[in-house]
Amino acid sequence: MRHFISMRDINREELSAIIEDACRLKRERASGILTRPLEGRTLAMIFEKASTRTRISFEVGMFELGGHALFLNPRDMQLGRGEEIRDASRVLSRYVSCVMIRAYRHSNIEEYARHSSIPVINGLSDQEHPCQILADLMTIRELFGSMEGVRVAWIGDGNNVCRSLILAAPLAGIDLRIASPPGYAPPVELIEEARRGGADVRLADTPKEAVRDADIIYTDVWVSMGDEEERDARLKAFRGYTVTADLLDTASPHVAVMHCLPAHRGEEIEDAVIEGEKSAVWMQAENRLHTEKALLLFLVEKT
Ligand code: CP
Ligand code: NVA
Repeated sequence: MRHFISMRDINREELSAIIEDACRLKRERASGILTRPLEGRTLAMIFEKASTRTRISFEVGMFELGGHALFLNPRDMQLGRGEEIRDASRVLSRYVSCVMIRAYRHSNIEEYARHSSIPVINGLSDQEHPCQILADLMTIRELFGSMEGVRVAWIGDGNNVCRSLILAAPLAGIDLRIASPPGYAPPVELIEEARRGGADVRLADTPKEAVRDADIIYTDVWVSMGDEEERDARLKAFRGYTVTADLLDTASPHVAVMHCLPAHRGEEIEDAVIEGEKSAVWMQAENRLHTEKALLLFLVEKT
């Protein structure tokens, strides 16, 4: 029985197998082939925070695999009235086959998993967003034919998505250049961990320096869910870190732009960039569905 709470929970071979399977599921879906390998299985989805892509891709993904998904708002569960995480975890283990949790605190997902006898998936926490990275890596593979040696420039906040991307670098063989304003860079220990794993991950002084020789420019919101009180300070600190058409002009002609969405046009990304011909964001969003399905098969099918 396996959990997927962090990119650290899978190895290189498993990552590659999940992405391979996601590509197969995408091809089969396009040809109208849908099988029902998860018939009779239920996924419980607990969302402490809002979601469009994660909720819908998991729910539709479970349906397309022949299973069922339950959307649970913790405020409507006894969890919202103080029932202990370890109790909820042991009870749900007896009803469903897998649990996906989007939570404010990563440590709560870890605690839930410690008491769970079924797989637990991190659907975003303050620390990581590993499901997003599976879709991103699939997108990179589709765009460049391979993940190995592809250089990604991360522009902006060293947030949950950035952290999972750093941890994925040694598994996927991607290079990373990260440009964040002072005080908002990802933790140095994480970069060192990725480097020890063999990845070329470095901080850049400016967005311009980061995008030089990049194959992908990736950005995310400046104010993540849970950071709303810091909004004013962040908007000030991130000035100059917008992915603009001018910044793209300084990158290689084949560069593609990624964003995990939701986007705030005019803040981290210009409208002309997200709507432009180099934007891969819609492909990236679609791939959430295929990678979510592959992940569910990886975690649930054999349990
Ligand atoms: N990218 C992503 O996780 O989107 P949602 O917040 O809409 O799920
Ligand atoms: N970093 C963003 C990602 C949203 C999918 C957040 O945590 O709000």
